[in-house]
Amino acid sequence: MGATLPGLLSALLLLLLPASLRVRDHLPASNRREAEDGVVGRGLHPIVLIPGLSCPDLEARLADAYRPSTPRCSRVQGEEGWFGLWTNRTWELDAERAECFVDQMRLVYDAVLGDFRNLPGVESRVPGFGSARGSGSKVPTHPEFCLGTLRATLERLGYREGETLFGAPYDPRYAPPMPGQASRFYSRYFRRLARLIEDASERNSGRPAIVLGHSFGGVVALEFVRNAPLPWRDSFVKHLITVAPTWSGGGYVRALTAFATGPVGLLFVPAAPQLAMRSMWRTFETAVATLPSPAVFGRRPLVVTRNRSYSAYDMADLLVAVGSADAVRPFRERELPKMDCFEAPMVPWTYMIGTGVPTAEQLIYWDGDFGRLPEVVYGDGDDTINLASMLALEEKVGKQPGQKERFKSIKLAGVRHSALATDERALSILMDEILEANR
Ligand SMILES: *[C@@H]1O[C@H](CO)[C@@H](O)[C@H](O)[C@H]1NC(C)=O
Ligand SMILES: *[C@@H]1O[C@H](CO)[C@@H](O)[C@H](O)[C@H]1NC(C)=O
Repeated sequence: MGATLPGLLSALLLLLLPASLRVRDHLPASNRREAEDGVVGRGLHPIVLIPGLSCPDLEARLADAYRPSTPRCSRVQGEEGWFGLWTNRTWELDAERAECFVDQMRLVYDAVLGDFRNLPGVESRVPGFGSARGSGSKVPTHPEFCLGTLRATLERLGYREGETLFGAPYDPRYAPPMPGQASRFYSRYFRRLARLIEDASERNSGRPAIVLGHSFGGVVALEFVRNAPLPWRDSFVKHLITVAPTWSGGGYVRALTAFATGPVGLLFVPAAPQLAMRSMWRTFETAVATLPSPAVFGRRPLVVTRNRSYSAYDMADLLVAVGSADAVRPFRERELPKMDCFEAPMVPWTYMIGTGVPTAEQLIYWDGDFGRLPEVVYGDGDDTINLASMLALEEKVGKQPGQKERFKSIKLAGVRHSALATDERALSILMDEILEANR
């Protein structure tokens, strides 16, 4: 393991750490060795990576009950019927297969269950659970997306896949529940993740784990911890690191553009018509999970048409106006309550965000045509999440009594949402936090 790599390590520390930590370079050699052994010699705390929304793969299997939009979508071969539905090859699909993809990805809201599920006859699963290599970029021109760079950096530090380094891909169509809320997908996912962490901890002399999530994965990480029993958190979570989490308590204005015009830039399937992608996206729980919240955005007009402006209080009306009346009920029943959940995770927590990047703050659809690109008024943020929403997480959750003593907020000026997990400066700060948690 890493303990055998002290030479490599000191080279890496030099490369990766900000000046503040390089103080060890000025120590006499014997003390320096001690400092390195202090981090790796005692063994590493296992780490679990939870990547952003587009990163996990999905597999599906079709049963007779499946009624495809066109007959050819029912014919799929694969081992025991399983095939890759959302993978790093989905971008290559031709128009016909893309139509099937869009159809089979759809969710329905089951009002009796009060929960989302697949279309009848479609079964799905997330491959690669447990592995940090189990998910990855779906955009061929951006192989660095999805925590790939961070994973490689951790490996150079001595982290090893399956020993100390793990991953927890999730089904990106579902949003994690707040404490006390039911979710068929996440109740199983949280159980598996708890088991993964217990096993990892056992394999590493009982050392508790670091849980790190980026973007939507940051929300999954936060909700996983908030949903776990307190004594379990104390025993098994060493540190929580959320990088630009798109949290439901705040939401962000850009989430509205995906609802209005489709998940452009989120899910890359060039052959699929934009309208089809939009109607698929609108069936996802994820689509309504991060709409702007009243607690953060108040009465500010977020969407403006000639006849009306919509504030965060008017999201249900806006869903109807954009032609998505079906989303109103799940929004009210499942997502609205999350907007008032400010429970702290109650574990040591590092919260990293980017600021100072132009970020949509108001959308103007003057003639009321929501299918067209809006005129955008920009404000502060990371190009996706508004600064107001980020600061609210800090104030309302991070500064809760019992949390604030072990809460650290790091703001990186000029670093965009996706770059927070790839940018050199951001990575070096992340590694610093991970080393600090290991000290
Ligand atoms: C695509 O995903 C598969 C399975 O996770 C992986 O083995 C392969 O290396 C990936 N290909 C690229 C180009 O990332
Ligand atoms: C605005 O309201 C008027 C009168 O109610 C209506 O005729 C018109 O279609 C509306 N325009 C838009 C863009 O919604």
